Amino acid sequence: MVGSLNMDLVVRTAKLPRPGETVLGGSYRTYPGGKGANQAVAAARLGARVAIIGCIGDDPHGHKVRAALVEENIDLTHLITREGEATGLGLIAVAEGGGNMIVVAPGANATLKPADLEPAMTAITAADTLVLQMEVPIATNVAAAEAARRAGVAVLLNAAPARVLPVELLRNVDVLIVNRVEAAMLMGMPEDVDPGRLTLRLPTLGVPTVLLTLGAQGGILSHKGRPRRVPTPHVAAVDTVGAGDAFCGALASRWKRVHEATKARHPDEFTLVEQATLLASAAGALATTRSGAIASLPRSDETIALASTLKIGS
Ligand code: RIB
Repeated sequence: MVGSLNMDLVVRTAKLPRPGETVLGGSYRTYPGGKGANQAVAAARLGARVAIIGCIGDDPHGHKVRAALVEENIDLTHLITREGEATGLGLIAVAEGGGNMIVVAPGANATLKPADLEPAMTAITAADTLVLQMEVPIATNVAAAEAARRAGVAVLLNAAPARVLPVELLRNVDVLIVNRVEAAMLMGMPEDVDPGRLTLRLPTLGVPTVLLTLGAQGGILSHKGRPRRVPTPHVAAVDTVGAGDAFCGALASRWKRVHEATKARHPDEFTLVEQATLLASAAGALATTRSGAIASLPRSDETIALASTLKIGS
């Protein structure tokens, strides 16, 4: 994992504020989070051995985030503690029904430079899979993806938060995971664009596997241009924070076999992609049933059991 680590400040409200509006919420809680940290833990809870390369500040939030990752057996050899920088902060409002709004103050995450990857190069090139999101500088993601691709390591990119991506990054990505807003931004289309149209356009980015996540509506998997509907189980959602991260981490935890089959053009390739996707869908759904980011990430047994009830649609 090359990615962000944050402390999340979460407040529950009856409804999310509109622009310019103030709403009163309940008391706030703090949870370790950040898309990089969340996805690292999600993969680890599903059995992957995970190392994270990222930056925290030398402050109480940073110490708590580090402690949370130690508890999950994440390899922190390349976690940098940056003096004089604050640990990233996620300012999160969660509404009844689980919907959320998030503003991130990147803090130390913004200082993760390509040069910081040098001491960690062996960890990247010896990995099965590299996972990236868009909460650290883009030049760092480009450098990590290039190194991974040169070494034959699969590269998964969760293009969140939404932004346009440079070709230098996209050409080294094997799997792109985006929600509707992120996909629309990438393709220069309106946010309310029909997911079917997005699915047709996303493969033009040249990434072999694209997953469009659609929340409670499931998602669409497009592997080598073959679109498939991804189901999601019905659950009682209380907090959707971290659901996308649970999805990405779960997918990453199973991608090694897909990557090997894809490289070998093995006939099991499509089945393996679908199995990994169903596990990811189950993990995402389970994460919505609990509060917090890392705190909400599911364990292996419950995820595998729920995934076994799902079937990919045509
Ligand atoms: O995806 C959820 C995460 O986004 C939160 O943990 C927050 O820190 C932001 O990174």
